[in-house]
Amino acid sequence: MNLDHYLDDDDLVRELRADVHNGLTAQPKWLPPKWFYDARGSELFEEITRLPEYYPTRAEREVLLRHAGDIARTTNAKTLIELGSGSSEKTRLLLDALRAHGTLGAFVPLDVSGSALREAMARIVADYPGLSVHGVVGDFTRHLGHLPSGGTRLVAFLGGTIGNLLPAERAQFLAALRAALEPGDWLLLGTDLVKDPAVLVAAYDDAAGVTAQFNRNVLRVLNRELDGDFDVDAFDHVALWDAGQEWIEMRLRARRAMRVRLPVVDLTVDFAAGEELRTEISAKFRRDGVDRELTAAGFAPRHWWTDPAGRFAQSLAEAVPG
Ligand code: SAH
Ligand code: AVI
Repeated sequence: MNLDHYLDDDDLVRELRADVHNGLTAQPKWLPPKWFYDARGSELFEEITRLPEYYPTRAEREVLLRHAGDIARTTNAKTLIELGSGSSEKTRLLLDALRAHGTLGAFVPLDVSGSALREAMARIVADYPGLSVHGVVGDFTRHLGHLPSGGTRLVAFLGGTIGNLLPAERAQFLAALRAALEPGDWLLLGTDLVKDPAVLVAAYDDAAGVTAQFNRNVLRVLNRELDGDFDVDAFDHVALWDAGQEWIEMRLRARRAMRVRLPVVDLTVDFAAGEELRTEISAKFRRDGVDRELTAAGFAPRHWWTDPAGRFAQSLAEAVPG
């Protein structure tokens, strides 16, 4: 299997240590969401995508079912690059459309989760004989300079994952992506849209408790990688809609006062009873905001498609001369 590693286990542990040190000594405490995705976290995310309350995956699939052909005809892409590719399940609709259109040569999935990437690649290689599949274990906030060149490129960033970045990180990410592309390359960006807060909160606090397990999984990652002693079950899952920021915020709330030791980072962290640790934001978007952010980064938004219920959008934007 053709797999490049821009992150090896040592890099990951170094970064995790730095993030944990910064985040758990800050007030309020926080952790970046990329640490959810060890093998178990990636499986839990896939389970989330099948929950009745979690509409984004199904809604984005509906957009792709209707518009993958338009995307292929508009872009004539030879190389499909997917950032935060996970299982790449929806991506098959793009691969099929580009293959039918006759331009597809290569698929380059990039993900921080090596296990999810390897499993997805094995399935794609089996199902798309003749396609060059080149995986990258990397961080889309750091490794965009390594994207393959040659032929028209279409970068797909699906699922609304851009919403897991803070606004300043989003601007940096889009600028770095534009810098890595040439005029005439394309970005297909999936964004979850602002809607009834009850629908949003249910999507992040499902009745079966799968999102709660996903949220707590980050503490299991810290226990394993940093020899920590978090009592994982002593934290409640919290999902809140922040109407001012227009994002969902996931937190873990300590049920009682706790002292947690993380010897590998030489850290002892105290939690007061009821204290919350922010683990993720998931921003929700409106069309004008997405267009503005794309334009500011040097992309020209060419198409905006939503599912029929207007829950989720895909923007197709062209990299334009700076
Ligand atoms: N694109 C898929 C998966 C979304 S889940 C979908 O639409 O269903 C988010 C994915 O992004 C996970 O596979 C996770 O491992 C990956 N990810 C999260 N932060 C990342 C980062 N900084 N760099 C690369 N991949 C990241
Ligand atoms: C990957 N990302 C777009 C998901 C989201 O909806 O923000 C992660 C997730 N968090 C809780 N449920 C799903």
